Amino acid sequence: MRINLLPDDVKSRIASGEVIEGPAECVKELMENALDARANKVEVEIVKGGKRYIGVRDNGIGIPSEDIKKAILSGATSKIRSLEDLQSINTYGFRGEALHAISLVSRFILRSRFYQEEVGREIRVEGGKVVSEREVGMPVGTHAEVYDLFYNLPLRRAFLKKEDVERKRIYNLFKALALANPSVSFRLEAEGKEVFNFKAVKDLKDRVEEVFEERFEHLSGEDGPFKVDLFLSDGAKWLFLFVNNRPISNRSLTEYIKRSTGKWKACVCYIQTPPYLLDVNIHPKKTEVKILREGKLKELIGRTLPNRNWTGISLKQSTKGYALEPELIGIIDNTLIVAKYGDYLYFFDQHLLAERYNYEVRGLTAQKACKASIRAGDKIDEKMAKDLIKSWLSFENKEVCPHGRPLYHRIYLGDLYKKLGREY
Ligand SMILES: Nc1ncnc2c1ncn2[C@@H]1O[C@H](COP(=O)(O)OP(=O)(O)OP(=O)(O)O)[C@@H](O)[C@H]1O
Ligand SMILES: [Mg+2]
Repeated sequence: MRINLLPDDVKSRIASGEVIEGPAECVKELMENALDARANKVEVEIVKGGKRYIGVRDNGIGIPSEDIKKAILSGATSKIRSLEDLQSINTYGFRGEALHAISLVSRFILRSRFYQEEVGREIRVEGGKVVSEREVGMPVGTHAEVYDLFYNLPLRRAFLKKEDVERKRIYNLFKALALANPSVSFRLEAEGKEVFNFKAVKDLKDRVEEVFEERFEHLSGEDGPFKVDLFLSDGAKWLFLFVNNRPISNRSLTEYIKRSTGKWKACVCYIQTPPYLLDVNIHPKKTEVKILREGKLKELIGRTLPNRNWTGISLKQSTKGYALEPELIGIIDNTLIVAKYGDYLYFFDQHLLAERYNYEVRGLTAQKACKASIRAGDKIDEKMAKDLIKSWLSFENKEVCPHGRPLYHRIYLGDLYKKLGREY
């Protein structure tokens, strides 16, 4: 087959799928724009799980009428001017790609009135082309409407998830942005009915309780560059994670928190840190955030969580968290490395521990790390076992192997002593 260069419009239509995977991402981008415009009221409307219609209305500062057509161009942003600005970013948006992507793959109407102007302006865009433009009477703010997402990418439209699945994804991210912005009021209407109506509130706890309609316990901690606020309840199983008010996903932090809370609890975790410790630009969706010095942050979260069933080390023995080294007790069946660490007896799977070591410390891929590692049943000497458990302390992810299996099982010594009728 000969290699062809795709025309620009085809290229960008394909690329837009990276930013806008489906209705939920579209709602997210439009809500983030509203929040970046410092709105204190955001209203969302969806029809057929957002597949037929998405509308987001805000009372933010609006777009200057002479700029409105620019807003849908690729790389058009008012939020950063140079790469350096990314270091101190405090807006959700920065790429200047969201409206461009949305306008390419939908019938899009953007209506906005800038706060210094008397009237608003409206553009209608189809498949990326402005088809009409006019003046409109409206209050200060912006109203973005997306009809028939992916109407011109039939395959992608066909692959959208079922309506109720899309709707749930939208609810989730709507809640996430509401949790991150307590001083903003949010309303969501789906299929003509009001689903959420969160009033502006003073602090995070009020918003968390407003969103989940439950009581939460608030714990907070601070160490060096990190500050965390944790809200916990015995409710259903879920976790919302925020860094500097940005809802994020971060697999290793999520795993850490899940394990550290012991039994699953509802948890909202807010992390504040200076922007230089973050890299938000690692994925076009901006949700996957890399945090430098993540180990320190985990320690802080560990210390902040209720001291029930979570801690790797008892506070009466040491206040330095993970500073102590695990002590090798022995090896069982040439498979399990047993060590005492803090208040726990650890049973490490030697293969998985070695695999994590090869993956993290030697930088091998998950597959190569597996092949290169000692297996269960291989005889290893004491020195190697000691080295492995010592290196475990420095792992970025101490919980699971590169394929997701847990590295260890541990038993709380207090439980063991209790079984034997002794005080611990
Ligand atoms: N609701 C809004 N209120 C005010 N201005 C808006 C709004 N939506 C978009 N804009 C303007 O249009 C520009 C382009 O928006 P777009 O979402 O495409 O890019 P961005 O937010 O700058 O970056 P990103 O692609 O990361 O979202 C914004 O930078 C902003 O100036
Ligand atoms: Mg944006």
